[in-house]
Amino acid sequence: MKKRILSGVQPSGNPHLGNYLGAMRQHVEMQKDFETYLFIADLHALTTVKNAEEMRTNTYNLAVSYLALGLDPKKTVFFKQSDVPAHAELCWIFDCITTMPFLERAHAWKDAITKGKKQESVGLFNYPVLQAADILLYQPDLVPVGKDQKQHIEMSRDIAITFNHMFGETFKIPEPYIKEEVAVVPGTDGEKMSKSYKNTIELFADDATLKKQVMGIVTDSTPLEKPKDPEKCNVFKIYKLIGTEVETKTLAEKYRKGGFGYGDAKKLLLAKIMDYFGPARKKYQELLPKKDFVYGVLEEGAKKAKLMADRTLNEAKKKIGYL
Ligand code: TRP
Repeated sequence: MKKRILSGVQPSGNPHLGNYLGAMRQHVEMQKDFETYLFIADLHALTTVKNAEEMRTNTYNLAVSYLALGLDPKKTVFFKQSDVPAHAELCWIFDCITTMPFLERAHAWKDAITKGKKQESVGLFNYPVLQAADILLYQPDLVPVGKDQKQHIEMSRDIAITFNHMFGETFKIPEPYIKEEVAVVPGTDGEKMSKSYKNTIELFADDATLKKQVMGIVTDSTPLEKPKDPEKCNVFKIYKLIGTEVETKTLAEKYRKGGFGYGDAKKLLLAKIMDYFGPARKKYQELLPKKDFVYGVLEEGAKKAKLMADRTLNEAKKKIGYL
């Protein structure tokens, strides 16, 4: 029997190279070997997005992105979280067995309250509980996530253990699946690529925007003629993540030889991105206007997800004494 995996992704704008290399690529690849559940975490997104148009567009664009990158709805149960009410329902049940001090230990919460003076929502505080519900409803063996999500998976395990202890064996204890070799993807300014730093290279931006983003990568001022150290250059660091071994080696030699400027390197990187993502970018444009198809995929996915989620939720309800 294939192992079951589940993961969720927040719809937070246009996916970029960091999203792709950190998570999306892995999600699409895993459908070959695993029974895969993947959802768009739009309930979690409400902790930050408070605008209907933005919510709708981000969700839709993320769905189109995954389909363009090769996610196959026949292989992956692909749905949006808000279509499956069991997530919110189980979240409440978990709320009642989770303590405030436990949630106060979450890094994401601690960061949020140390950073800003603004009043944070109960939803943000509760984020890990909803995530535990997301995961445990589907009884997955593995949860593929980035390193930053490790604590959330540990908290989900703790919540499952607590419930099982209080009410009897109900939830499978999930394991995180964190690919260590997923390097931090540098952004155009050399910091970690992140939408909030405005240093992204977007997978599906139009040609002109993509060019602007790549040409805007920050480099030092070594003159064109001089030899350069590729490992110190952001352009090379990004190239290395998608170029083949041979291509990367050839580029490194050009840097070291001299007479090769950063502008030349950027042109090669842009060509590489166009080549690597060419088919997906084309597919994205084709799918974008096909709303019925895309929403249809998510609806079908939600139907399948509900079967599994409701089965687990009913089990929990029996244990609690609701049924
Ligand atoms: N918190 C995750 C992130 O920001 C998204 C997420 C929500 C998730 N629910 C999940 C990931 C369940 C894995 C499993 O990346």
